[in-house]
Amino acid sequence: MQQPSPTFFNLLELEDLAAGIIPRAAFDYITRGAGDEQTLRENRNAFSRYFVDQRILSGKTVQNLQTEVFGSQLRAPIMVSAMAAHGLVHPSAESATARGAAAYGTLLGVSTVATQNLEQIAAASQGDKWFQCYLTRDSGFNRELLQRAKAAGYKAIVLTADVTVGGNREQDRRNALRLPTPGNFLDSEGRNRDIDLTFNSSIGLDSLDFVRRHTSGLPLIVKGVTTQADARAVLQHGVDAIQVSNHGGRQLDGSPAAIDSLRRVADEVCGRVPLIFDSGIRRGLDVFKAVAAGADLVAVGRPVLYGLALNGWQGVQAVLEQLEQELRIVMQLSGAATLADIRDTPLVPQPSAR
Ligand code: FNR
Ligand code: LAC
Repeated sequence: MQQPSPTFFNLLELEDLAAGIIPRAAFDYITRGAGDEQTLRENRNAFSRYFVDQRILSGKTVQNLQTEVFGSQLRAPIMVSAMAAHGLVHPSAESATARGAAAYGTLLGVSTVATQNLEQIAAASQGDKWFQCYLTRDSGFNRELLQRAKAAGYKAIVLTADVTVGGNREQDRRNALRLPTPGNFLDSEGRNRDIDLTFNSSIGLDSLDFVRRHTSGLPLIVKGVTTQADARAVLQHGVDAIQVSNHGGRQLDGSPAAIDSLRRVADEVCGRVPLIFDSGIRRGLDVFKAVAAGADLVAVGRPVLYGLALNGWQGVQAVLEQLEQELRIVMQLSGAATLADIRDTPLVPQPSAR
């Protein structure tokens, strides 16, 4: 008999529910961060250092949160961030995540190191998807993957540039974690193609040219920007969008809280390209603060995997719905009826952080 799926009232308690069903080593891989987990903690703490101006008597009611990015229509400025290995938490893996994201009405980021291959995931839903590219040391394989992503109908390429080596994930070493070979590295018979999966440690601005060359016509997004200098450099190099992210505290422990990085990067970018934001989004209030700080779109990571673990594609959909419902309440109560109104609502820093 099918178990009724556990009820959750917010995405923070979802983590505890997921801990009860995801095998320990996989749960640690998902949940934990790098080093002392300073950045992981600060991603959350920093949100609570900003408050929201509460405007009353606006006479307005929140309605449509739709937004468009590179021709894709999103129900709200919330998407699923690319993550590895969804098969660790659910047998239907990324196909179910794709179905959940499409049922909700948003974009899915699909990782190079997904459990399923990019063609399977593309075919799993009608929803639009972005291909997240990791460059390995095998440039022929990198080229092949990019061409496959374009052929499979992905709408944009996200080059993740903050993983030139894996972060110091102590818990994974303690658990002797071994991830299964990603689908993109298997042949059509499911045999390992023995491609060197080692991350390319020398990603530079020329890597952007490489990606562009093999996916011409598709927008290019660089993920992992946290500084104004990097934002300036990639803008000068003609990127189409920037994803401000510290990889959910999984890479450089000691990188500043993501919302603080977002504020600085937004000041530099000044609306010239869309800004996507991730790392620490758990509440509709966080989405509001990120949009107020300059994000056009937020990407959610871990909670999506918890939803997937607990209730397959419907769990993924429920996570996204939950965030939107909370966002709507915050908007209504703060007097922001539209996304443009949120952008006009200055964040109020906590007195000591001013
Ligand atoms: C990730 N993330 C990630 N990013 C990426 O560009 N490619 C990838 O393959 C992965 N893999 C991955 C696996 C797991 C288990 C997690 C939790 C995360 C990072 C992800 O896209 C995003 O930056 C963070 O997860 C956002 O932070 P939150 O929402 O998890 O706090
Ligand atoms: C991670 C890599 C795969 O965060 O991006 O685990």
